This record gives sequence, C-alpha cells and structure tokens, in this order.
Amino acid sequence: MGDGANGLAETYRRDGFVFPIEVLSEAEAGSIRADLEAAEAEVADDPERSALLRGSVNHLLPSFDALVRNENLLAAAAQVLGPDLLVWSAGLFIKEAHTPKVVTWHQDLTYWGLDDVEETTGWVALSPATVASGCMRFVRGSHRRRIVPHVDTFAADNQLSRGQEIAVEVDEDDGVAVELHTGQASLHHGHLFHASGPNSTDDRRIGVAIRYIGPTMRQRTGERWMARLACGEDRYGHFDLADPPRGRLHEADFERCRRDAAVRRGTLFAGADPSRNSRRN
Ligand code: NI
Repeated sequence: MGDGANGLAETYRRDGFVFPIEVLSEAEAGSIRADLEAAEAEVADDPERSALLRGSVNHLLPSFDALVRNENLLAAAAQVLGPDLLVWSAGLFIKEAHTPKVVTWHQDLTYWGLDDVEETTGWVALSPATVASGCMRFVRGSHRRRIVPHVDTFAADNQLSRGQEIAVEVDEDDGVAVELHTGQASLHHGHLFHASGPNSTDDRRIGVAIRYIGPTMRQRTGERWMARLACGEDRYGHFDLADPPRGRLHEADFERCRRDAAVRRGTLFAGADPSRNSRRN
C-alpha cells in the first residue's frame, strides 16, 4: 500500500468517511444486481423470506458473499480497522423509483448493542447514487461527537428500524452528498451523522450496507450473533462464524438466518415501544 492508502486512513480519521472507493466494474455490479433481482422475484410471494433476503443477503446469495469479501473493499476497510475483519451484517437499502422514503439523521452505533466503536460501514452502489436518487449525506467530522440522544419516531416514511432521529439540529447545508457511480462505495464511521433523501428518478436506488467490525467487539448482552470472517483471523470468538452460503437461496441458509434474526431482534428493539413517541405528520 502506498501513499494513497495512507491518505484514505487519514481522511477517514479526520472526516469520519471516505469516498469514492472503486470496488466493482459496472459490468460486475450489473451481474450482482441481476442476481439480486432474480432472487427478489423468486421470494416475492413470501414476505418473511423477502425480509431475510434484504437483511441477510450475504448468507443467502453466493454473489453477495463474494461482495462482502471483495479485495478492493477489504483493502479500504482494513486501512481503518486493521487486518482482522468480521462482517457483522450486510443489508440492502433499496429506494424504489419515485419513492418518498427517506432516512433521517442518525448514528449507526446507537442501537446495535456493541461494546466499542471498532466498526465501519462499506456502502456499495449497485445503481447510481445521486442527489436525485436519494444518496446518503454525511456531516464531516461529526463522528467525533460520540453518541448523541436519539428519539424514536416510527414515522411511516422512515426506512430505519425505529425511525430514530438525532434530537439535535443538523444544518442541512452541512451535509456532504455521497454521490457514487454503480460499483463504487463509501466507508463511514459508526458515529457519523448521516441521512438520505427521497428517490425522484425512474430507477431503483440499490445500496448494500456492509458492517465490518474488529473481532475484539462483542454484543453487550453476551449473546453470540452470527458473523462472517471477511479477512485475517478471529482470536476472540465473540461471534458464531458463519460458513459460506450452501447454495443460492438454500433452505438451510434461510433457517440459520431465521434463528440469527430472532436473536438480533431481541437486542435491536430492547426498550422500544412502537405505541409511544409515534409521530404521524
Ligand atoms: Ni445508517
């Protein structure tokens, strides 16, 4: 790794993010997207499997297992977290064409139950991420503010699990638009303030959010969640290391994702009550 790699780590430390990172050619990204959209069609009549596909796609499609272990992405993630990396999760963030869905300002590590901050998100664009299609916005340097109070809104147009918003003013002009070509990625810190707007274009905006963690991390509850070793080694054993998918949309893989999702739900929704703090306006 030369000066460019050092530059990446320095930029990330200063700003809390770095982009664009060249991960896939447009053709490679196109074939992964085609595989995903075929899979979406295959489980379309099954809401439970559709949800597992969105939330655990790397355990269900070999093309996404390869994506989370892509050497360009891992080289960048290793610059900020070190050579030993686990995939804590890989989920799809899809904004359909002409959708009002937004993601309000938040910090990722607020609710994940992890005991430290050794985490970075690699967000890979499988279609163009532009201001018009609802790309992310980042507040430069906001990762140095630690976790600030969030409120649960459960608002209908919010794609986050609990509609969580930061309870402080974020000046919209402070947001840097994270525009990415198909096949490019960004990396962002778990404390970074970020949000994204609606998609007003004719195409779906498809992003894959890959959460990399250092194996020193553990769930505060002591539960053993499923994780995939991406590179290096795990000398801590805080997670159940997943084998690669057995096949494409294999029943045994759905079953292990189902079990893991049940464990995770217990943590993500601890203390949340959707009947309170709701806001419909
Ligand atoms: Ni986020």
